[in-house]
Amino acid sequence: MVGISDSHRRVCDRVRRWAETWPNVRAGLALTGIAGSGKTHLAVALLQRIVVERQATRRARFVFLPQLMREIQASWKDPDRTEEAILAEVCGVELLVLDQLGAEASGAWVQERVEHILTRCFDGGGSLVTTSIYPIEPAGAGMALDERTSGSVVSLLKEACRVVKMPEDDYRDTVLKHGQDL
Ligand SMILES: Nc1ncnc2c1ncn2[C@@H]1O[C@H](COP(=O)(O)OP(=O)(O)OP(=O)(O)O)[C@@H](O)[C@H]1O
Ligand SMILES: [Mg+2]
Repeated sequence: MVGISDSHRRVCDRVRRWAETWPNVRAGLALTGIAGSGKTHLAVALLQRIVVERQATRRARFVFLPQLMREIQASWKDPDRTEEAILAEVCGVELLVLDQLGAEASGAWVQERVEHILTRCFDGGGSLVTTSIYPIEPAGAGMALDERTSGSVVSLLKEACRVVKMPEDDYRDTVLKHGQDL
């Protein structure tokens, strides 16, 4: 078995408490940390707890942002799908998990859509949970989220979410070091 560190436990406990409190939460969560630190795993666990245990299926949604952007782009050439229908489906939920913020393709149209989704979800009273490898506040020499998205996205996130920093270890490395298959 791969042991869980105290810092992992603290993060897990915080996210579990949030899931148990939802929908009576004041703000969403922005999970940040290096690749492999377990952000998506934790976000999915949170969603599962809410969807499975609380039967909130139609009120919650997981979105892998780079894929959503590809779907939006494809809809421009598809007479059977509209961008508005895709956005309405994503934004019309009470809990929206946006995975890989900052990893989506660059370009002004992408940033506009991300801003639109965050604003529409937030204004509609929905809770946001995001994951990103980019820190919301610039730290050290690495790139911060505003360099990958826009200042507006970061500002919206600061208002809508509380930052949860993942422990600085790559779960994939940890498992490999212990000689286990993922
Ligand atoms: N607490 C955990 N228990 C068991 N497996 C875990 C745990 N946390 C992460 N993992 C596993 O470790 C791997 C990396 O986790 P995950 O994909 O969540 O990382 P990530 O931070 O989202 O990485 P990326 O930034 O590359 O998307 C996955 O295979 C995941 O299932
Ligand atoms: Mg991930």
